[in-house]
Amino acid sequence: TDDRIARIASTIRVIPDFPKPGILFQDITTLLLDPKAFKDTIDLFVERYKDKNINVIAGIEARGFIFGPPIALAIGAKFVPMRKPKKLPGEVISEEYSLEYGTDIMEMHVGAVQPGENAVIVDDLIATGGTLNAAISLLGLNLNAGRVGVTVVECACVIELKELKGREKLGDNPLFVLVSET
Ligand code: PRP
Ligand code: MG
Repeated sequence: TDDRIARIASTIRVIPDFPKPGILFQDITTLLLDPKAFKDTIDLFVERYKDKNINVIAGIEARGFIFGPPIALAIGAKFVPMRKPKKLPGEVISEEYSLEYGTDIMEMHVGAVQPGENAVIVDDLIATGGTLNAAISLLGLNLNAGRVGVTVVECACVIELKELKGREKLGDNPLFVLVSET
């Protein structure tokens, strides 16, 4: 396979018991300190999604805001922020979801995407899959009033925590990851 991936994996720092006892926190800030690893990470996603008619990169606050925008710029897609509650100033649609630790609400602006567009959802990491599932619900076909249907082509993460089986929670929605932690 691609030897860039092993280098990227080696730059991710693991911090035990953060933010709670028992959680092995995968810290991508050390990946960001390595310009080659950061560039290789973005390049691998860009190589995958360029020429695939992707119109939307949806980035999940906070760490999806680090990886999403450079991918969007490189492939000529718009960037749509999926934010924590009460941060977006316009009309929003909301989705509540449960996390590895706690629950949260995700919001996006009404009108940020249009029916028929093709989206890739970007985040740093998939754990239980609850976060990506909320993003899929916000973007995808949904019968509730005020929701527009966008095709979610794929979810893209730097890291997958395989033991938490988040991939199963995504059902038929494809997931692409660079690094798997077991
Ligand atoms: C972390 C991580 C993912 C999410 C994955 O974000 O960055 O977004 O958890 O967990 P899940 O697959 O179990 O849903 P967090 O909510 O901690 O916030 P942050 O990105 O703003 O730091
Ligand atoms: Mg996050």
